[in-house]
Amino acid sequence: MKVLQITGGKELSGTIRISGAKNSSVALIPAAILADVDDVTICNVPEITDTDVLSDILTYLGADVRRASESIVISPGSIQNREIPEELAKRLRASYYFMGALLGKYGHVEMYFPGGCSIGQRPINLHLKGFESLGATIEIIGDKYIVDAKELHGANIYLDFASVGATINIMLAAVKAKGTTVIDNAAKEPEIVNIATFLNNMGAKITGAGTSEVKIVGVSQLKGCFHEVIPDRIEAGTYTIIGALVGHYLKIDNIIPEHIEALTSKLLEMGVELEIGSDYLIVNRPSKYRPVNMTTLVFPGFPTDLQQPFTVLATRCDGKSTIEETIYENRFMHIPYLNKMGAKIEVSGSVATVYGPTPLTGTEVEATDLRAGAALVTAALIADGKTTITNINHILRGYENIVEKLTDVGAKIEEVEI
Ligand code: EPZ
Repeated sequence: MKVLQITGGKELSGTIRISGAKNSSVALIPAAILADVDDVTICNVPEITDTDVLSDILTYLGADVRRASESIVISPGSIQNREIPEELAKRLRASYYFMGALLGKYGHVEMYFPGGCSIGQRPINLHLKGFESLGATIEIIGDKYIVDAKELHGANIYLDFASVGATINIMLAAVKAKGTTVIDNAAKEPEIVNIATFLNNMGAKITGAGTSEVKIVGVSQLKGCFHEVIPDRIEAGTYTIIGALVGHYLKIDNIIPEHIEALTSKLLEMGVELEIGSDYLIVNRPSKYRPVNMTTLVFPGFPTDLQQPFTVLATRCDGKSTIEETIYENRFMHIPYLNKMGAKIEVSGSVATVYGPTPLTGTEVEATDLRAGAALVTAALIADGKTTITNINHILRGYENIVEKLTDVGAKIEEVEI
């Protein structure tokens, strides 16, 4: 079994370079199959297990996939519309983007319910509602979805919740539909803009991405293109939080500062020293942290994906902080482990109340999901003594070269086989 062993208390300085965004890459790779002619080249793709699995699915479908470090070249010419094996589909959440992409390309898809972090129920009803509005019928057999359309046509689709996945999946299915599709109450996350730009580079006609109304005028053909993944705002935010705890002029490089403004404004409110440049920030830990109240929201609000590492920061605050999770029902799985390390956090419904400051002590903890793992790495870096984190596959799904990146700035962290 592989574990991470971290000895806390080291000051971190130097530069951490942020990789391409996981949550963009995992949609761009399936979207590539929509190209009717020419290769698709996507660069700045993080080398993490989630992107590996999606490349495996593409290869399984018959695409020629060539990966050279952070670039991936996909020739979709020889793709066949085969059913993706359940085992592959369940290895990650983003396998569901093959639903929209295969439906958009072939008018038919058979797929299993996706996997991903256990942080709530995570239904896909809004994706299915979108497909139905575009003219598809849906049959559900056990865990398998058979989605079929004689012809996809444009439609007006209102999303009850501004879902990232549903917005992207509907864009993928609608991009070649006949007529115009309008998604109302669309998600506004930067990843949506990145996917829409990619599809437009392929010849699609999408406007309004990044606002709550996305308009897609269907086109008959799409071609390959060259595209760059945006920097990962959640990786950037995670390392910024770490810097706020143990950073000494720690530079977080290759970021889009506007994408993490909800975090940086909270950090400033807490008394963290930040210098924000055009594509970087420099963070210093303060001697005292003011307590905060934070609520997760859809973009541009505070991202749920940073809630778990942010909770660790609250254990350092002078007094009572509250953290409210509004996006998922079950995203507090890191808290029992933080309490085991010495934190004093009480959970009531969707609110965690953190009483600080409390020193943390190293012990054995388990990464129950990706961002819980990020929170435990963060906690281990400030804890007294050694922390052993198990179930680290979750962490490696989403953070490229995390051990190397932290070691390079002075952390004592090792991946060990026990
Ligand atoms: C994406 O998940 C990300 N995953 C998540 O990142 C991220 O937390 C989330 O967006 C919100 O920003 C990927 O991009 C692969 P949603 P997604 O649809 O698309 C409910 C991480 O740590 N909902 O916006 O699944 C749903 O249950 C991960 O990197 C429905 O009810 O998120 C959830 O409560 C975890 N019905 C809420 O909406 C639906 O049909 C937000 O989900 C769809 C969603």
